[in-house]
Amino acid sequence: MDKYYDHIIHGGDYNPDQWVDTKEIWDEDLRLMDLAKVNSATVGIFAWSLLEPEEGVYNFGWLDEVMDKLASHGKKAILATPSGARPPWMAQKYPEVLRVEESGIRNEYGVRHNHCLTSPVYREKTAKINRMLAQRYKDHPALFMWHISNEYSGECHCELCQKAFREWLKKEYHGSLDELNFKWWNGFWSHRFTDWEQISSPKFRGENHVPALKLAWRRFVTEQHLSFYLDEIAPLRELTPQVPVTTNMMRLYKGIDYRKFAPFVDVISWDNYPDWTNGDNTEPAVVTAFAHDVFRSMKNGKPFYMMESTPSIVNHKPINRQLKSGVQELAAILAVAHGADSVQYFQWRKSRGGHEKFHGAVVDHVGNENTRVFRDVSKLGGVLERLDCVVGARTEAKAAIVCDWENAWATEFFCGYNNERRDYDRVCERWYRAFQRRGVPVDVIPEDRDFSKYDLIVSPFLYMLKDGVADRIGQYVKNGGRWVGTYLTGIVDRDDLCFLGGVPGDGLREVFGVWAEETDSLGEGEYNSVCFGGKTYRAEYTCDVIHTEGAQTLGAYETASYYAGTPAVTVNGYGKGKAYYVAFRPRQAFIDDFCGGMIAETGLSSDAPFPLPDGVFARKRGEVLFVMNFSGETRCVTLDRAYSDVLTGGAREGETVLPENGYLILT
Ligand code: GLA
Ligand code: ZN
Repeated sequence: MDKYYDHIIHGGDYNPDQWVDTKEIWDEDLRLMDLAKVNSATVGIFAWSLLEPEEGVYNFGWLDEVMDKLASHGKKAILATPSGARPPWMAQKYPEVLRVEESGIRNEYGVRHNHCLTSPVYREKTAKINRMLAQRYKDHPALFMWHISNEYSGECHCELCQKAFREWLKKEYHGSLDELNFKWWNGFWSHRFTDWEQISSPKFRGENHVPALKLAWRRFVTEQHLSFYLDEIAPLRELTPQVPVTTNMMRLYKGIDYRKFAPFVDVISWDNYPDWTNGDNTEPAVVTAFAHDVFRSMKNGKPFYMMESTPSIVNHKPINRQLKSGVQELAAILAVAHGADSVQYFQWRKSRGGHEKFHGAVVDHVGNENTRVFRDVSKLGGVLERLDCVVGARTEAKAAIVCDWENAWATEFFCGYNNERRDYDRVCERWYRAFQRRGVPVDVIPEDRDFSKYDLIVSPFLYMLKDGVADRIGQYVKNGGRWVGTYLTGIVDRDDLCFLGGVPGDGLREVFGVWAEETDSLGEGEYNSVCFGGKTYRAEYTCDVIHTEGAQTLGAYETASYYAGTPAVTVNGYGKGKAYYVAFRPRQAFIDDFCGGMIAETGLSSDAPFPLPDGVFARKRGEVLFVMNFSGETRCVTLDRAYSDVLTGGAREGETVLPENGYLILT
């Protein structure tokens, strides 16, 4: 199913549990939600100490009341499981529920998250409270969706986790220490293990120089989170099979591979806190759109939820500047344009005390609707009410960028070449920007995704090739696809073992028709220049020195000493397709021009059939076209035909002015 509601969800984190002694505030909340055109509330995220104030003593009365009130106002409740934070009694009685740091020291009670993922006690307590929630609210008219825990993240190094890690390794390496020793190259520094007990998690004071161990640990931590999650949802699936499940993820968070959750959640959701400014927001819009497309692509284009965003400011940046009205509205429209079926906030009402009391909220401490933020949110609510036509609509992209979590880990872990500038996400965002500025939709996919539906794929800095990936790239190109690879492609396998026999490895040398003999590293302010298409571009940070082996040279290094005149951009005809190699780390100007050529050659079309000025983005969802001005200035677009304005119902045609932070929604 691609949609769960006929309207865009508009709401956010709601903490009536903090106001249980002043219930008149609850009624006020409902009145204000109606006014703000909010149709949903996410409840109970951190409510465990109120739900179970003492072990085995439950108190659901307050939540019954809240759920009833939400239902009576027609609001959709996104009900959270409370495992993101636990009551003090639990840590006091069962210290094993608390996390052990990498140093080996167990954390004391405090903050949130901070729990062991392996602890049988914690899993049991969580499953029990989740079951009780499901039993109690399974037929409640307000129950709309489950919100599992909160921003799964972090890791635990306790003995239970170490044991589970060793068991996981035994499975991963087929019970064979020989296999593990080989794959981790443990002959190096005399690290051959003879007993599984000799292995533990990567630690500052222990082993921290074996990339394969670090990769294995991240994979294990991901699986431990996932199995914790699966334990959490088991009672919900059993008792409320009709209720969709989500868990809110963090933007490109690399501690775990969130993509592994995708098959097990119904709706992908994420928490979005970009660095918006009061001026030109083109760059924050690019990186935010990129993240939206990462999440949209997790379930092959199925709409996702923007589970959190701030309606005004956050509290955790060094300086939290208030934003002009219109900035957050445009940010919300960007999310919807890129596939969000919700605009949700952290938080509905500011807490009175505690760490987040100055974090933006729809309702401020003043407690009424007479604030700028409240008016802005209500205005946006009115806009979202007119966008039922996009709910559930998918975007079909014919181009993709490979941005793979495990590859990101590997590029972070290896030592060598340019140790200061890896910037894997950033590099992917640079390539994304070239498509975004032209309104050409792209998916952002992992390396183990089916490539066949795309006409063009760019895989920047694809250092790690997991099993079978090189073959699938070869097949894809053979069948007529266009693939663009860059410097440091195909260097290691999934255990960070280098491919022998020349890189790009694992067969890609033949696909690209090049051999990268050396990789050079440049410092800040140092550049090589590359001549391509009659223009000169700067190459920075990392440059491969390559030889063609069948590929044709499209661009060459100019100024640098011994590699002057050697190929820097190549194309290789392979089967029915073409494989391009960009041997250096390019700056935006090259990426923009190169991708412009690739887009034209591939015949990819822009969602906007008219020119987009700088800072103006366009994206289609279904039949609806969004045109958004992030430039911080007035811009003009010349529409190619007569459109109907979805918000006003009026006609739009020809030269059309987009004010600062303005947007058009057209059909
Ligand atoms: C995260 C959390 C929220 C809140 C916000 C503040 O996304 O999930 O509980 O702390 O950050 O920005
Ligand atoms: Zn643990």
